[in-house]
Amino acid sequence: MDFKLTEEHIMIRDAARDFAKNELLPGVIERDEKQEFPKEQIKKMGELGFLGMMVSPEYGGGGMDTVSYVLAMEEISKIDASASVVMSVNNSLVCWGIEKFGNEEQKQKYLPKLATGESIGAFCLSEPEAGSDATSQRTTAIEKDDHYLLNGTKNWITNGSTADYYIVIAQTHPEKKHKGINAFIIEKGWKGFEIGPKEQKLGIRGSDTHSLNFNDVKVPKENRIGEDGFGFKFAMKTLSGGRIGIAAQALGIAAGAYELAKEYSKVRKAFGTEIMNHQAIAFKLADMHTSIEASRHLVMKAACDKDNGENYDLSGAMAKLFASKTAMDVTVEAVQVHGGNGYVKEYHVERLMRDAKITQIYEGTSEIQKIVISRSILRD
Ligand code: CAA
Ligand code: FAD
Repeated sequence: MDFKLTEEHIMIRDAARDFAKNELLPGVIERDEKQEFPKEQIKKMGELGFLGMMVSPEYGGGGMDTVSYVLAMEEISKIDASASVVMSVNNSLVCWGIEKFGNEEQKQKYLPKLATGESIGAFCLSEPEAGSDATSQRTTAIEKDDHYLLNGTKNWITNGSTADYYIVIAQTHPEKKHKGINAFIIEKGWKGFEIGPKEQKLGIRGSDTHSLNFNDVKVPKENRIGEDGFGFKFAMKTLSGGRIGIAAQALGIAAGAYELAKEYSKVRKAFGTEIMNHQAIAFKLADMHTSIEASRHLVMKAACDKDNGENYDLSGAMAKLFASKTAMDVTVEAVQVHGGNGYVKEYHVERLMRDAKITQIYEGTSEIQKIVISRSILRD
């Protein structure tokens, strides 16, 4: 496999790197502490094209490939994983889902605002009784004349209060099980749509996570995405791509922590020498570097599969499984390399360690990735 980057890829990666250092790094500790959404920074990311990278220029997007997207995701995640989850949901779940499966009217109406960050999107699949077991949707969308009546609760929704548009998955024909599920575009402010309190989180604390309640929300029929009963396939296909973005997020968190640990090991002295000269520390860095490189290869493979029109269910799940474990392992070791300094906020690695954990949980837990992977390899 040859993952040679083009000049354009390098430009995009460098632009994301500069943005992260200049715009996201200042204040990242305070935003984490206060659970403050990076509102101004997200606005700038939209203006720079980071929120609709893969959307066709026809709908106001950057028309870029998935490789560009994962390069940018990695750079943003090295510094601020709260900002990168907003980027990931907006790009690969909401924009991609609407562009790939929406009709022309839906694309014209929603994509130009979403692709430029003028509006933010959310993707609402999880429920109190339907997390990993996503077919067990309890939220209902019952057909009435010219609309659907939406009732139920979604939880853990990223961009829960900051979004303007929400893709909501709901059951229309319970007797048909997953084949009766639909996906709808819901707008903030519609009567009966309520946003619950903000979750108090371990990591990605700058991101905005809420439960949502729908009480007899009238959804126009034209807001259903795809044919009647397409909603579960819509969610699965969209998540297959989303998982590549989260794998890139995990890679970025790991790479960010590794770079900090490496630099620290060159300046911190113990027993009369820089700690990098103690083999125990040098070997930690060797392990970190190796698992990060392996993760990068898996992420690039999945991104290339998607760009080349190959199936990426398997490669995306493998990338997410491996990169998220790498993020966890590397960030724990990065704290260790920093000694006591690793345990306090100003050195950043404790935040990266807390942020890493979510990559093993959302967009399908590690156990769910193993289900996807094992089913795929055994079927083949
Ligand atoms: N593409 C297309 N269709 C797919 C598919 C895919 N990748 N995966 C499954 N399907 C189809 C199957 O073919 C099947 O359809 P048919 O009956 O027509 O053949 C249907 O979906 C049901 O599939 P399964 O029988 O495999 O269903 P299952 O109940 O065993 O569950 C699962 C499969 C993979 C475990 C799935 O439930 C799953 O992915 N769960 C995890 C949910 C998840 O990832 N949630 C993330 C929420 S979003 C989020 O988290 C965002 C964020 O944090 C930022
Ligand atoms: P459960 O499904 O209850 O799983 C509990 C444990 O059991 C896990 O370890 C799981 O791996 C394991 N398990 C379950 N089933 C099996 C099985 N068959 N085999 C082996 N092990 C199994 N969801 C959205 O829809 N949109 C969002 O924007 C979103 N953002 C999120 C943001 C945050 C910060 C968090 C914490 C979650 C978010 N989620 C979102 C929800 C997330 O996708 C779910 O938490 C995740 O899919 C797991 O579901 P669950 O929490 O119900 O855990």
